[in-house]
Amino acid sequence: MYTVRKVTDDLYWVGANEHRLHLFENIHPIPRGVSYNSYLLMDEKTVLFDTVDWAVCREFLNNIEHVLDGRDLDYVIINHLEPDHAASLDEVLIRYPNAKVISNNRAFMMMHQFGFHVDGREIEVAEGDAMSFGKHEITWVEAPMVHWPEAMVSFDTTNGVLFSADAFGTFGALDGKLFADEVNFDRDWLDDARRYLTNIVGKYGPHVQDLLKKAGTIDIKMICPLHGPVWRKDLGYFIEKYDKWSRYEPEEDGVLLVYASMYGNTEYAAQCLATKLCERGMTNVHMYDVSKTHVSYLVSEAFRLSHIVLASVTYNLEIYPVMHQFLNEIRMLNLQNRTVGIIENGTWAPQAGTRMEEFLDDNMKLMDVLGGEVTVTSSLNDSTEKELDALADSIIESFEKIKEEKEQAKA
Ligand code: FEO
Repeated sequence: MYTVRKVTDDLYWVGANEHRLHLFENIHPIPRGVSYNSYLLMDEKTVLFDTVDWAVCREFLNNIEHVLDGRDLDYVIINHLEPDHAASLDEVLIRYPNAKVISNNRAFMMMHQFGFHVDGREIEVAEGDAMSFGKHEITWVEAPMVHWPEAMVSFDTTNGVLFSADAFGTFGALDGKLFADEVNFDRDWLDDARRYLTNIVGKYGPHVQDLLKKAGTIDIKMICPLHGPVWRKDLGYFIEKYDKWSRYEPEEDGVLLVYASMYGNTEYAAQCLATKLCERGMTNVHMYDVSKTHVSYLVSEAFRLSHIVLASVTYNLEIYPVMHQFLNEIRMLNLQNRTVGIIENGTWAPQAGTRMEEFLDDNMKLMDVLGGEVTVTSSLNDSTEKELDALADSIIESFEKIKEEKEQAKA
């Protein structure tokens, strides 16, 4: 049995899908599964681009055997050594004892750290090197920190296929559909693509920008990432998304309203603010209970939307712990350039608002905290309702200001 898809006349997807894994990297939920992509080029020489996670090694080996159809495997190119792609390398090398391994010096060092048996089989390459495998010539471009320091991408100068490693990847199993134009990507995949990129590589936006700059100098016709669909049409659509995410530029004008509520009163304040925003014409408002929503989804939404409202109860005179975790995640992932509103609640000593503002000021860049922090003492009253009205007005004003600035930039 096999699950091979043809990518071009002589290039085959030989990867595998995973649905049993609950958490990617044992931290991020993947309810739609994930694919581990590997590609096999059948030129005068046979060349495998990366391997797969150990959990799906059996399907992967079946696919390779089917495509090789009795030929030997000559080369394995390792673009990225993280075990979700490289864990099956040793098994491939045992099955195909003549295969040589092509990678860079940092990856070879890591192969030894992970205990892979590559001695005597290494071919070391660096940026700008090229090798011909018959009709196809492959050149390499370094992509450090997208997502590990050894990462590189391979570019087929013969037909414009870019083997992009983790870049342009997404969560979600392919389940037979290989190309982005075979699915409704915008409807069904974009949220998972953003959640993948922002949580996995969000911290390294400048490194993604460096790779995008290098990619802009080569004539890419197709992108073959290590996770998710292959891009052969509308490449610009996805490249533009990557550009925005890695520049920390919001995709949409809208409000992420994250609340931490113990008995429903802070949630009610968040609901009132959401209603007031919609009444004022801003309906792109998205509310999440921080206690019930996995932080990877909140991170993704924080990268998508231009405004964030943090509504938190006070807990031990501090920020509610789960809200604190969310703030810490977006700090670690280097999120910046957002407008923030704050609501705090406390029955005898409300402190969460002050602490959240301090956290943003001390730890994050370009976070514009709106004045008029709302303080709820236990539950809403006429006075806090006025404060919520003022915060809603202030958020709407900031949208108008952003719109004006965009128009001035265009003029
Ligand atoms: Fe999909 Fe960084 O590994």
